[in-house]
Amino acid sequence: MNMERKKIVAGNWKMNLNWVEAYDLVTAIKEQSKKISGVEKLIFPPFPYLQMLKVIVKDEPNFYVGAQNCSEHAKGAFTGEVSAAMIHSAGCSYILVGHSERRAYFSENNEQLLAKIKQALENNLKVIFCFGELLAERKNGKHFDTVQDQLTQVLSHFPKDKIHSLVLAYEPVWAIGTGETASPQQAQEMHAFVRKTVSGIFSPEIANTVSILYGGSCNAQNAKELFAGEDVDGGLIGGASLKAEDFCTIMASF
Ligand code: PGA
Repeated sequence: MNMERKKIVAGNWKMNLNWVEAYDLVTAIKEQSKKISGVEKLIFPPFPYLQMLKVIVKDEPNFYVGAQNCSEHAKGAFTGEVSAAMIHSAGCSYILVGHSERRAYFSENNEQLLAKIKQALENNLKVIFCFGELLAERKNGKHFDTVQDQLTQVLSHFPKDKIHSLVLAYEPVWAIGTGETASPQQAQEMHAFVRKTVSGIFSPEIANTVSILYGGSCNAQNAKELFAGEDVDGGLIGGASLKAEDFCTIMASF
């Protein structure tokens, strides 16, 4: 952990919870996290709840709401899609881009990821850009190549003057929702590599300002050890973000 970089704990709710459950969860998180400071608190609920949840947390310092996805298009005849402008107008601050579930189940490619990033930035939304290797790639020792490729393909087109709107999230696919976590050493090793790669694309000064989150079965038990890594600036939390107590314990794990 580095004291200068922003620490962030983000909850990715994925496609879970009904309206009442979402209301109850955010109310509990709001109450239980009141005494936790020095960390950006962030939730990514499903689209229908964004505005309602934003209203509930609007007076909480350092508490933001983001969307799990946005359209790659600005507006128009795209039935079923939600634009970055709509998300911004609902009071949101962030968009998740490049999550492995979107890459795998919705075949999102780099071109689409870049179009989504463009939409987000044009609408004053920050981006959490997710990437990470498959199990087979780690087993074959290809994890650094994969991550470098995923970063380079997208970040070399990311506008340098918008770098303050970028957060990175290393999420090894084999650790997402599996209960198998990267060890603190594996996480730190990859995060240092990511920072080096960002340094090569932009500059060492810029790389030093970008927060890099870890995601993949991060929970209330292992967060402290993972966040102790010099280059680990927080977490993107799936399953454990659906329980207020666990999520707040993770927020307090720096
Ligand atoms: P998990 O999900 O914490 O349930 O592994 C993380 C994510 O997909 O962002």
